[in-house]
Amino acid sequence: MTVQNIMLMGHPVLMRPSAPVDDPTAPEIALLIEDMRDTMRAAGGVGIAAPQIGVGKRVVMFYTPEDGNGGGDSTDEGLRAAITERPLTILINPEIVALTDEQRDGWEGCLSVPGLRGVVPRYTHIRYRGLAPDGSAIDRVATGFHAVVVQHECDHLDGILYPMRMVDMSTLQYVGAAEGVAVRAPGGETEAAA
Ligand code: NI
Repeated sequence: MTVQNIMLMGHPVLMRPSAPVDDPTAPEIALLIEDMRDTMRAAGGVGIAAPQIGVGKRVVMFYTPEDGNGGGDSTDEGLRAAITERPLTILINPEIVALTDEQRDGWEGCLSVPGLRGVVPRYTHIRYRGLAPDGSAIDRVATGFHAVVVQHECDHLDGILYPMRMVDMSTLQYVGAAEGVAVRAPGGETEAAA
């Protein structure tokens, strides 16, 4: 088991397009997939992209919830627990086509933007294609939370993080802040200050 460090927003590997994979069955891709899986599970994520562990290759993985998971709140603990019992899809050189103009707002979080969440509009109905690790083709239609996760992960391969997709930046917030989670100011215990 190799849990890798997760790159944070601002690292160049997260901000530029990743390179296509020539051979999905190559041993180094198998190792990359193993590291991504171990890291995602250790971090409690519902998906991860290769650049998030510092590798600029077009590989993503995500749990595939059943359709009908609603608005796509990846920051909801209950939903996260429920979908991590679903099958894991590993997708190499993915392509997405929107099957509708309709977008829906939902809360998103990201392992590379820890502690924050924000409302992001995503297409509600997509088709995605790519290769499995054995080189076979994957071709699926996705809706609901499934469609949200695929769009989020594939964005990572183009250097796009979810805050760059946000329309209403006033929704960017620390998880728990609305419920009163706060931080202690340095030295705040001693003297009162304005
Ligand atoms: Ni992410």
